[in-house]
Amino acid sequence: MSWTRRKPMEAMTPRDAGHQLARTLSWPHLLALGVGAIVGTGILTLIGVGADRAGPAVLLSFAIAGAICACAALAYAELSTMMPAAGSAYSYSYVALGEGIAWVVGWSLILEYSLVVSTVAVGWSGYAAPLLTAIGFPQVLTQGPELGGLINLPAIFIIAVVAGLLMLGTRESARLNSVLVLIKIATLSLFVAVALPAFDAQNLHPFMPFGFAKHMGPDGVERGVMAAAAIIFFAFYGFDAISTAAEEAKNPDRDLAIGIVGSLVICTLIYVLVAAAAIGALPFTRFADSPEPLALILREMGQGGIARIVAIAAVIALPTVLLGFLYGQSRIFLVMARDGFLPQSLAKISKRGTPARITAVTAALVAVIAGLLPIDEIAALANAGTLIAFTAVGWCLLVLRRRSPDLRRPFRTPAAWFVGLGAIGGCAYLFVSLPMKTIVACLVWNAIGLGVYFLYGQRRAAVVR
Ligand code: ALA
Repeated sequence: MSWTRRKPMEAMTPRDAGHQLARTLSWPHLLALGVGAIVGTGILTLIGVGADRAGPAVLLSFAIAGAICACAALAYAELSTMMPAAGSAYSYSYVALGEGIAWVVGWSLILEYSLVVSTVAVGWSGYAAPLLTAIGFPQVLTQGPELGGLINLPAIFIIAVVAGLLMLGTRESARLNSVLVLIKIATLSLFVAVALPAFDAQNLHPFMPFGFAKHMGPDGVERGVMAAAAIIFFAFYGFDAISTAAEEAKNPDRDLAIGIVGSLVICTLIYVLVAAAAIGALPFTRFADSPEPLALILREMGQGGIARIVAIAAVIALPTVLLGFLYGQSRIFLVMARDGFLPQSLAKISKRGTPARITAVTAALVAVIAGLLPIDEIAALANAGTLIAFTAVGWCLLVLRRRSPDLRRPFRTPAAWFVGLGAIGGCAYLFVSLPMKTIVACLVWNAIGLGVYFLYGQRRAAVVR
């Protein structure tokens, strides 16, 4: 039965030249790709939403989300060095768990990657629109219909720019990405340097005003440390995008693990400092649910000039998240096309060594979402898709350790059972802590996915085999 059919490990990467990606990336590129994809809307804006849901205990939410991501990152590091294929969690599931689960994971990865790109593009447009309207650009062309506009052109524009760059060449994109990542780290360091000296322990009392587990507040909003952790989770992922670069890494055995684990460690250190500085500088109620909490905190501290620098740097550097996720989505679609789940002609690699066709198609898809659809709750839906993928990766780690203990593992995660079960259990707990609406939307998306699989995917995959 094809639902349980597993792909042999040696069939994971194509042998014919027309479908091979160019190997151009070394570990500093991969590290920058990871940090670039991780640091974004999550730390810049969702820290306010998190404080609204958990109070000062959002610090605990950061620790929980970070610990669960650490388990997932270690599992990714082991699997990606074992099976360096561009399809990431989808490919590992095809080998370890079978075709049906792989399809569900691939379908969930579409939620993750596409919705992150759309969300961040709309968030970027939120910063860029005031600059554009000031020079006469029509307001109706800067917002989607849900906000009374016609279409969000700046969001479409930035997706087109990043897609163009990716089609031009992976190495060129990675170089520019590295520069922008340095700007991003410098900006957050500036925030910490200015806000941390104003730390006032009084701002941490009461520490946990809304309790630990998710529960419905009187205002109809679900609150608690776990409700905040399920949202803050958005800030941590992006390291998984590195695993989609496996076929383009010069030395995948070593460099993928350095990139995945290293980028998460760097970002966790930055986040701990930023979150502590933010919570300590101002009572959380003053910046909770602000669309630009870090800039607001600086303004409230009388540092208007620094607040402007942070806002401008966000506009310049936020596209690195788009780059990481658009890159990852195009690679996952590429592998799904190779497997017959999407038209094969899309899997063609251009003369520049990039999957130009699939990048263009992916960009068009996410641009439509970004141009027209509302973004509230889209981040939560992206989290739901990511949590399914991370759960599958934890599961793959355990299954392969048990089924094939002697396979070559260039990176062996320590305490594999703890790591695997930590990823599975932690992601499941975060999933049920998401808003109810999001959980339902995710299940509907996967029900549609299964319909597509049985009506189209299953037959097409059989033809390609
Ligand atoms: N971690 C990425 C961000 O926060 C998705 O924007």
